[in-house]
Amino acid sequence: MQIKNYIRDIQDFPKEGILFKDITPLLNDPIAREESLKILLDSLKGQKIDKVVGAESRGFFFGMLLADKLNAGFVPVRKPKKLPFKTISASYDLEYGTDSLEMHIDAIKKGDRVLIHDDVLATGGTAKALCDLVNELGGEIVQCNFLMELSFLNGREKINENPIFAAITY
Ligand code: PRP
Ligand code: MG
Repeated sequence: MQIKNYIRDIQDFPKEGILFKDITPLLNDPIAREESLKILLDSLKGQKIDKVVGAESRGFFFGMLLADKLNAGFVPVRKPKKLPFKTISASYDLEYGTDSLEMHIDAIKKGDRVLIHDDVLATGGTAKALCDLVNELGGEIVQCNFLMELSFLNGREKINENPIFAAITY
């Protein structure tokens, strides 16, 4: 079982010239999903995790599966104005302009051992914002993990003070 075989290339999505890596075939296959989850969990080598932080929206899929297996809380980080309670916010750069992500202010306690998860590490803007949010609340980042890393975009340079793991690297 090679989980890479369940990632589909889509030419020119969402814009011309971009080769999009589509994870939906992997989500659609229970064995590929189970294997991906196992690879992500094995990388943690039994380290205790209190909270898994997942980024809207594609970070929610495996984020919740990981939280469940780790017997940890799940913390959704969402796009602006989606969370109902008091939030903190972190901004990150886009190709043109900036965007931000929000987390509930009580989602992480000082000293919580946190796993950050997203589907893809590309330019690292999203992952950096996730780290900033966790650090602001005093969480201890145990690892940032991803289903895949697009290593040619050098995203890991933005978060390289943390342990990083990707199940698939391009
Ligand atoms: C995509 C992907 C990662 C992020 C990676 O999310 O799911 O979260 O981009 O890119 P970066 O490393 O350059 O920040 P997107 O913002 O497209 O939203 P989605 O998850 O809701 O599809
Ligand atoms: Mg995303």
